[in-house]
Amino acid sequence: MTIDPDPAAAPGPHAAPGVRVRDLTVVYRTPLGELPALHGVSLAIEPGTITGLVGESGSGKSTLALSLLNAVQPPGRIAAGQVEIDGLGDVTRLGGEELRRARGRHLGYVFQAAQNSLNPLKTVGKQLLDLGRSHGVADPAALVHDARLLLDRMGLPGARVLDSCQHELSGGMRQRVGIMFALVLNAHLVILDEPTTALDMITQAAILRIIREIHKERGLTTLIVTHDIGVAAEVTDRLAVMYGGRVVEHGPTTEVLGDPGHPYTQGLIRAIPRLSGDIDAARALPGRPPTLGTVPVDGCVFRERCPRRMDVCETGEPPVAWLGDRTVACHAAGAAPREKEHA
Ligand SMILES: Nc1ncnc2c1ncn2[C@@H]1O[C@H](COP(=O)(O)OP(=O)(O)OP(=O)(O)O)[C@@H](O)[C@H]1O
Ligand code: SF4
Ligand SMILES: [Mg+2]
Repeated sequence: MTIDPDPAAAPGPHAAPGVRVRDLTVVYRTPLGELPALHGVSLAIEPGTITGLVGESGSGKSTLALSLLNAVQPPGRIAAGQVEIDGLGDVTRLGGEELRRARGRHLGYVFQAAQNSLNPLKTVGKQLLDLGRSHGVADPAALVHDARLLLDRMGLPGARVLDSCQHELSGGMRQRVGIMFALVLNAHLVILDEPTTALDMITQAAILRIIREIHKERGLTTLIVTHDIGVAAEVTDRLAVMYGGRVVEHGPTTEVLGDPGHPYTQGLIRAIPRLSGDIDAARALPGRPPTLGTVPVDGCVFRERCPRRMDVCETGEPPVAWLGDRTVACHAAGAAPREKEHA
């Protein structure tokens, strides 16, 4: 049985949207002043793909995911750039009611730590009906039916979960409830920030498989944020690698993982035995990722840890080179620099 809700109950564009992030800079106010967590990020997410966003903690993954919903909260703000989503236009210009309606109907999302984001005083079912009402869903019974099917499909007793409050559910159950909320209004752009971190390995694999199935069935564009490259390898078509508030490499997952072009991606992969294939050969990436206060203001942000550092890396942003279908922001990437990827 299909889990797609009645289209009349869940209006919205029924085609996978493309997303074009252009020169996006997001800053957070800190005791040292406003510092960029994203610095001139450009990224094209192709319609119908599952894109993984990977990188160490603090690289800016969640900030980028929030920006797609124009949901960066103070002390952060979008300081420059655009996020253009097919059917919605530049979401950085949306506000108020327009933005609220876009979220949920057009943009389904799970925030990081979603297992803590339910209302503690209301059952999941009541929160679902609130969501439906706030989006003008005409048939609440169909909405509940679809929610139950989604929960059942993710291995939960749907009817019981809908009757439960947050404290009656485990972290892993809440996380799946979060995924249900991201999907139940039939949004065609779905953004999942660390959607399976509270789950054991086997459940995680099952849920990711289900996300992928639903992505295909419904024809979605999906962005999955994860710090786990193994997860990204299993489920994504394309991979964007972030470091120090930049996307340093982006392209088909098989190419990025099979033949990484950026020294940072190479280091990340070498550090993972199940990807590098040899547990003895796995080597941790030396050094630590930068924080907002320690990201170099000039030159390549990765140079402190880079084995291929050159004089030219000390100043300016590394050029974006194309390697086939892939972009790599590095002086050593080897191909002639071309225009940034949103061109
Ligand atoms: N509310 C905030 N106030 C100040 N700095 C922030 C805030 N939120 C994020 N940052 C900083 O912005 C940078 C990017 O954070 P972000 O949460 O986007 O990273 P991330 O890649 O999602 O990390 P993680 O893997 O830990 O979730 C980090 O240096 C972080 O400390
Ligand atoms: S631009 Fe230079 S320092 Fe940066 S990753 Fe490339 S080679 Fe290393
Ligand atoms: Mg995050």
